[in-house]
This record gives sequence, C-alpha cells and structure tokens, in this order.
Amino acid sequence: MSWAWNRVSAMKPSMKCKPLAANFVKAALPILVCLTTACAHHQERMPPRTQDRTLDYRIQSQERPERASLQKPDEVVQTLALKNGEVVADIGAGTGYFSRPLAKAVAPDGKVYAVDVAADVLGYLKERADKEGISNIVTIVSREEDPLLPKNAVDLVFFCDTTHHIVNRVPFYRAMAPGLKQGGRVAIIDYKPDAQHHPHPSEEHVPRSQAISEMEDAGFKYVKDFDFLRDQYFLIFEKP
Ligand SMILES: C[S@@+](CC[C@H](N)C(=O)[O-])C[C@H]1O[C@@H](n2cnc3c(N)ncnc32)[C@H](O)[C@@H]1O
Repeated sequence: MSWAWNRVSAMKPSMKCKPLAANFVKAALPILVCLTTACAHHQERMPPRTQDRTLDYRIQSQERPERASLQKPDEVVQTLALKNGEVVADIGAGTGYFSRPLAKAVAPDGKVYAVDVAADVLGYLKERADKEGISNIVTIVSREEDPLLPKNAVDLVFFCDTTHHIVNRVPFYRAMAPGLKQGGRVAIIDYKPDAQHHPHPSEEHVPRSQAISEMEDAGFKYVKDFDFLRDQYFLIFEKP
C-alpha cells in the first residue's frame, strides 16, 4: 500500500472525506460550470418592443425579400399540412407575412385569426390581404398578456419571431390554451442563440430548451422539431 494511502487510512473518517471531496469538486467544477452554462442558457433580457418602431419600418423589415430564403414561408406552411376548413391563429401576426399563406392553405372554408397587440400593423395586414383577394383573415387586437382568442375555436396556433417579444410567456400560453381545440397544435419558430443571421443579439433570444420547458410548464406536450431552417428552431406542441 502506498504511503499516501496509509496516510489517508490513518485519518479519522471526517478528515478523509474533506480532501477527497475537495479534490472531486476541484476536478468536477469546470465540467459542471460548462454543463450549467450550456443547459441553463436563458433569454437574459427582452428585445426592444417591435410595436414602438414606426409602421413603415415594420413593413420594410417584416416584408423584406431575403426572408424568403431564410424563413422559407412556403415550406413552413406546407410542412404544417393544413386542411381546408381549419382555423389558425397567427399570434404576433405583424404585417401578415405568414397570415397570408396560412389563410390560402385553409381556404375556402377555414380562416386565420391574425392577432397582434399593435392595431396599426393589423390595419396594414387587412388592407394588403384585401388587395390580394384574401378574404378569410379576421384581425384581433390583443393584450400583452392574453391573445384574446375565441374559446375552443383554433386548430393551430402559429408564432414566428414573436415568442421572444412576449414578456411573461408561461401565463400568456396558459391564457391562450382555452382558444385551442383539444388535440390542437402550436407551432413556434424563433431564433437559435447561435444563429448566423438574426435581428437581435443572442442574449435576447429564447433558446429551444427554454421554449420547450415554458410550453410544458403551461400544460402543452412537445411533439417534434423540424430542422430545415438554418437560423431558427421550428417546434410543434399539442394541447393534450
Ligand atoms: C418581429 S414581429 C413578427 C411578425 C410576424 N410574425 C412575422 O413573422 O413577420 C413580432 C410581432 O409580435 C407582436 N407582439 C409583441 N408582443 C406581443 C404579444 N404579447 N401578443 C401579441 N403580439 C405581440 C408585435 O407587435 C409584432 O408585430
């Protein structure tokens, strides 16, 4: 037996534990720090409120042509496999970049509730949809903490680039839940903190793991991910 082991054996049990525990902590600490930073990455601060920008700025930004290659709206809508007659709520609809293709996917009998806290952007959305001959969009001016959906009416709630702007998400999701039919789906598209191209710094993003745990806290069941968007996660949940 080595000298070192003899020394350890000769110690009182309480003396043996302390150096061993200290060495273990010393060795494991960097790994623990790494793991907790990776797992516990959270939205650290809220981004500036979109609704405080001018309407012109929001239209320019939300309708910018390069979104087509980054956010693949046609592929996103196709992936959702919507049927004629279904009802969709596009929450944080903005100018309607997604509300318009979603409305076409559920036409002629279905409809889209375009929900936003900003009334001015919904005015633009409605005018543009009318000009494009899309007649199955109903706008809802909502509240920060409640999307004000009609009860038991919606097959799919859709969020794109919006969840990171909602201040208290878990209570918001709970307020949204009665609007969904049982078995109804929720789609969340939002930025990955390590995205190559994004409008906000990574501290303002909601990482995928946080998005999932918040939805689960609000009573939704995680179903799956689609991973064809380079800079964003695309998650599907269900109302059990
Ligand atoms: C970055 S824009 C995204 C617009 C649209 N979803 C798109 O992909 O083009 C975020 C939108 O969410 C809206 N918004 C912010 N907080 C909201 C809330 N608590 N409830 C509903 N809408 C909200 C803003 O007014 C803004 O129009």
